[in-house]
Amino acid sequence: MPQDLNQAKDKAKDVLELISKKTLDPGERKKVVDESAKYWRDHVNEGFLQYRKSVSTDYTAVEWEDDGAVFRDINGKEFIDMLGGFGIYSVGHRHPKVIKAVREQLEKQCIHSQELIDPLRTYLARLVALITPGDLQYSFLTNSGTESVEACLKMAMLATGRHHFVGTVGGFHGKSLGSLGGTSKAVFRAPFLPLMNWTHLPFGDVEALKMTLECNDFSGDKVAAFLVEPIQGEGGINVAPPGYLKAARELCDKYGAMLIFDEIQCGMGRTGKMFYCEYDDVVPDLMALGKGFGGGVMPIGACVGSAKTWEKYVENPFLHTTTFGGNPLACAAAIATISVLLEEGLLDQAREKGEYMLPRLNKLAEKYPEVLASARGVGLMLGMEFTNNDLGYQVSKNLFARNILISGTYINARVLRVEPPLVISYEQIDKFLSSLEESIQQVYKEQGIAASVPV
Ligand SMILES: Cc1ncc(COP(=O)(O)O)c(C=O)c1O
Repeated sequence: MPQDLNQAKDKAKDVLELISKKTLDPGERKKVVDESAKYWRDHVNEGFLQYRKSVSTDYTAVEWEDDGAVFRDINGKEFIDMLGGFGIYSVGHRHPKVIKAVREQLEKQCIHSQELIDPLRTYLARLVALITPGDLQYSFLTNSGTESVEACLKMAMLATGRHHFVGTVGGFHGKSLGSLGGTSKAVFRAPFLPLMNWTHLPFGDVEALKMTLECNDFSGDKVAAFLVEPIQGEGGINVAPPGYLKAARELCDKYGAMLIFDEIQCGMGRTGKMFYCEYDDVVPDLMALGKGFGGGVMPIGACVGSAKTWEKYVENPFLHTTTFGGNPLACAAAIATISVLLEEGLLDQAREKGEYMLPRLNKLAEKYPEVLASARGVGLMLGMEFTNNDLGYQVSKNLFARNILISGTYINARVLRVEPPLVISYEQIDKFLSSLEESIQQVYKEQGIAASVPV
């Protein structure tokens, strides 16, 4: 497309007007729908457009507004959000306290000078030290999950002087070139090989971890860190088996490797504790945060570390820097998020709502075994495993037709995740459960599946 600054000037003006409008007339709504689809195709990625529209069957589901546990498309159709932005919306969509903090900070200063001491970074780092377990003390603030993982990897290299990493099969840690090494699926990694030195082991397998650390120690290719999600999100909501994290802690200590927990998806209250590793009473050397950390309002993540992981970085703080990471707006959002989680008792709510939902999901699995194999998870990080990929997809499509958004996991297509905002009401949960049952029944009918359990 040729450069055209006049056209750019007019278009930017139009869009700013659109943003400023509280309501749109039908003609304006149609224009937004048509233009969004066209510009996505022409200027974003046509392939991704096909994927995004797949459950909605047309382009009309252009998102426009959100609050609490729902969002509305541009035509005002309301959806219950059972996906929660893949774990972003822990405190709900546009929580008023988070919005207020960001708005008030917006009136003062948006981005820091990069030279003076920016206070909100320090307050947030202090709060993170207070909400994380054990001796985790320092925070490097980032703009995304993948950047948090990158920082953890670099801190582990600095702390150990080593560069071999161990991850897990089913692990997902992001897609920038460092974190992608830890991500396990070939389809995402193969085009970009070679990545850094990585070995992937079966998740939950203590013996495999022991062997690898031992063998690498023997060969001299000593392991810098073991990177693991305490609950694998994209791998299909796989909860670390009892004793696994503790054994990992002991093995890492024995072989001088750092233990990194990626709590980007399972942290910030989602499982009923602030961080899932608290259930197992295990403290990592480094922890990666993201997603829900910014309250679904601002993008922010963190690499959190103990004093020993920070030593070399303190000697030379220019070894890892970022321009926007930890900016005042993002910090204001994260500070408000921590406050909301604690003041509104959202951790307990996550646990209780999960305890309400999981047995009901498993009841549906008992009732409809040809379609729904099982459900698992902790708090509001739940997964439903279908008997094959296609059936799970059909169910998500049927749910979308009933105004409920849900989605699969990146690495395991048989699993649909259930990760709603922690503020979801029991009424909304019940609506989801009844719609899910209807959607499964519809699959039986459409696919001509004979039911083995009389309904
Ligand atoms: C556990 C985990 N780690 C890292 C990431 C990457 O985060 P981001 O997409 O913000 O880079 C994700 C994203 O899904 C994740 O679930």
